[in-house]
Amino acid sequence: MEAIEAIHTRRSVRKFEERAVDDETIEKLLHAAMMAPSARNQQPWHFVVLREPTTLRKIAEGCPNAGMAAGAPMAVLVCADTERELTSGYLPQDCAAAVQNMLLAAHATGLGAVWCGIHPRPRREDFMRNLLDIPSHVLPHSLVVIGYPAEQPAQPERFQPERIHREQW
Ligand SMILES: Cc1cc2nc3c(=O)[nH]c(=O)nc-3n(C[C@H](O)[C@H](O)[C@H](O)COP(=O)(O)O)c2cc1C
Repeated sequence: MEAIEAIHTRRSVRKFEERAVDDETIEKLLHAAMMAPSARNQQPWHFVVLREPTTLRKIAEGCPNAGMAAGAPMAVLVCADTERELTSGYLPQDCAAAVQNMLLAAHATGLGAVWCGIHPRPRREDFMRNLLDIPSHVLPHSLVVIGYPAEQPAQPERFQPERIHREQW
């Protein structure tokens, strides 16, 4: 799928087929995530690949905003290593870029995915840290829930010419 088409047709998918996602495809998504830009090229990310149904169910129960994880074959928790933060404040942006790359790669591969916010909600961060034994210097940033889509969300147009300012506001 061409890049502009992928950007325009990606939507959050929250209902999935039971079909598993194979190792090779998962690696493609992680490779795409790790090709993201990052401040001073620190690549501060880590990825926890989650495929155990019991874990996915626990996440759905503990983080209602990620309730769809219970019906998904997999999820990836994107984390930031705070020891790789050379310029203060950029870790969330770096991880967000990795998440977006993963969402687009998933869509271009025929998968569906949804971004579930973890940081900056302390309760969600603590829940993930405890459940997955994440070290204290690592920040759980976002959960990407992934699977073959069992729904096709609408494609609303979002282009708003009035939001564009030329040369000055
Ligand atoms: C930072 C961020 C956090 C989000 N958190 C959640 C979430 O916790 N649960 C959820 O179902 N969707 C979540 N979403 C997905 C948004 O609801 C979704 O992107 C938005 O409604 C636009 O729909 P689209 O992705 O289909 O374009 C999140 C999106 C972003 C960017």
